[in-house]
Amino acid sequence: MKKSVTTFLKAKKEGNKLALLTAYDYSIAKMIDSCNVDGILVGDSLGMVCLGYRDTLPVRIEDMLHHTKAVARGVEEALVIADMPFMSYHTSIHEAIHNAGRLVQEGNAEAIKLEGGARVLRQIRAIVKAQIPVMGHLGLTPQSVKIFGGFKVQGKNQDAAQMLIDDAKRLEDAGAFSIVLECIPAVLAARITEAVSVPTIGIGAGEHCDGQILVYHDMLGIYPDSRPKHVKVFVDAGALMRQGIKNYVDEVKESTFPTKEHSF
Ligand code: KIV
Repeated sequence: MKKSVTTFLKAKKEGNKLALLTAYDYSIAKMIDSCNVDGILVGDSLGMVCLGYRDTLPVRIEDMLHHTKAVARGVEEALVIADMPFMSYHTSIHEAIHNAGRLVQEGNAEAIKLEGGARVLRQIRAIVKAQIPVMGHLGLTPQSVKIFGGFKVQGKNQDAAQMLIDDAKRLEDAGAFSIVLECIPAVLAARITEAVSVPTIGIGAGEHCDGQILVYHDMLGIYPDSRPKHVKVFVDAGALMRQGIKNYVDEVKESTFPTKEHSF
C-alpha cells in the first residue's frame, strides 16, 4: 500500500509505530521498500556514508537531486523524503521554495526535510504553502555541528529542553507533518511526543517517539568510520560483504573462479 503524509498522521492518532530508514541509491531503496518501511529518507548523511566527507556541510542540492532520483526510481510504497542540504534554505525564502520544488519536480521526492526550529519557520510555512510536505528536524541537527562544537547530545539542561519543546510546537504550527528528534534524552523526547499531534521520529531519542529512523549503513554495520551509541547493528552485513569480497579475490587468485558454469 502506498504510504503518504496521511499515513504518518493516522499512525500517530492510532498509536502505531512508524519505521523509517535512509537510502541513497536504487538497489538499496528497492530492497528497503520491499520490507514494509513507512518512509525512506534520502538523507544528507549521504555526504558522510556515501561520499566520505567528515560531516554533511559539503553536500549540495545537485548531490541530493542525483541520489533522490535514484531512490525514487526504486520505491513503490514508502514515502520518499529528501533532505534539504546546508545552504539550500538559509539565504532566502525564494531559494528555499525553489530548492524544495526541485527536489519534488526533478528528484521525485514526495516530501522534504529541513533542520532547525524558530529560525526556519518562515521557510517551512512558505514551502508548505507551495504544497510540499515538510518534515522538521530538531536536537542534534548535523548541519549545526560547527555551532554545537561536535556531534553532541542536545537538550540536556532545562532551558535547552524547554527550547526544543517550544520549537517542536512551532514546527507543528508552521505545518510540518512530522518531526525528527535526533540525539536528545529519552525523557525529553517523550515530553515532545506528548506535546505535538504530529508524529515524532527518533534517532538516538529513546523508545517513546512515534517512530524511529536509522541510517542503513549504520544498522547494517557498513559505515567504517564510527558507530554512535544509539545505533544497533541488526545484521553485520559489513562482515558478510568483506567475507564475500575476500572469497572472490581468493578464488580469482587460485583460478577457481570463473568455472565453466560462469563462462560462455
Ligand atoms: O541525513 C540523515 O540521514 C538524517 C537522519 C539521520 C535523520 O537526517
